[in-house]
Amino acid sequence: MTEEQGRVQPSGVWATAVGVARVRARETERRDALFRDPLAQAFAAAGGRGSSAVPPPGDEAARRRRLGVAFSIVIRTKFLDDLLERASASGVRQVVLLGAGMDSRAFRTDWPEGTRLYEVDTAVPLDFKASVLRQERAVPRCERITVPVDLRDDWPGALAAAGHDPAEPTVWIAEGLLIYLPEDAVELLLARVGARSAPGSRMGLTLGSRGVIERFGADAVPRSAASLWVSEMPDDPVAWLAGHGWEATSHTLRERAAAYGRPVGTPPQHDEGPGGLISAVRR
Ligand SMILES: C[S@@+](CC[C@H](N)C(=O)[O-])C[C@H]1O[C@@H](n2cnc3c(N)ncnc32)[C@H](O)[C@@H]1O
Repeated sequence: MTEEQGRVQPSGVWATAVGVARVRARETERRDALFRDPLAQAFAAAGGRGSSAVPPPGDEAARRRRLGVAFSIVIRTKFLDDLLERASASGVRQVVLLGAGMDSRAFRTDWPEGTRLYEVDTAVPLDFKASVLRQERAVPRCERITVPVDLRDDWPGALAAAGHDPAEPTVWIAEGLLIYLPEDAVELLLARVGARSAPGSRMGLTLGSRGVIERFGADAVPRSAASLWVSEMPDDPVAWLAGHGWEATSHTLRERAAAYGRPVGTPPQHDEGPGGLISAVRR
């Protein structure tokens, strides 16, 4: 059996990770790309067209929502690339990608010597990813450790067993993840992250903006990412994170997009996707 024949095709929530790779592959082709993710095309190709989530032709509202989601993915990727660069510059050498999906930062970021990067996700997407990485003969630019575990289970135990050291600072990334977890699961995740964050740790989160589930989810295409969204950011994310021990800054997509030279047009060409971007430090 060839590598391709043995590959499980994307389904359920992890199919969204391949959808994200499709967006990153398109951005990578732009001359003015905000980042370049050369592996994204390979993940997208291995995952097929994902046609179940494509809106029917002529559905202008669905098209605008899709463009809005794609735009939010591009801006958040750049936001978190920058956050990780700052974390490395401040001396952090442990990186944990929660719900890592097809994130290829282990391969495309210039990590300082001694960086250990943990990718936490369930086993099936990590196996799919490993198969594509083998096919592409991809070589990580840091020590990369995959941790196959469900984030509703004992992931702190699995992360510790994989070698994570809570006494050393960590930069945690939850990108495109929390919107898929119910609020109590988000709270538990944050408490567990906090308990493993030495002073100097950092965190980058993306959150569903207020009202996005109603605007996007209500008539979402079945099996599309938006049809799986369940949680939005609290009214005051900075105060919420202060309660979890983090000094946080909250950004909007619109503001970051303008800062990156990719402003939302007037009138906007797409709907506003899920947009809470959080950068946080632990003192
Ligand atoms: C939209 S994708 C984002 C992937 C990646 N962070 C990125 O931005 O490229 C969401 C990811 O979260 C993962 N995920 C969702 N719920 C999870 C859970 N309960 N345990 C582990 N991973 C989960 C999915 O498998 C998927 O890979």
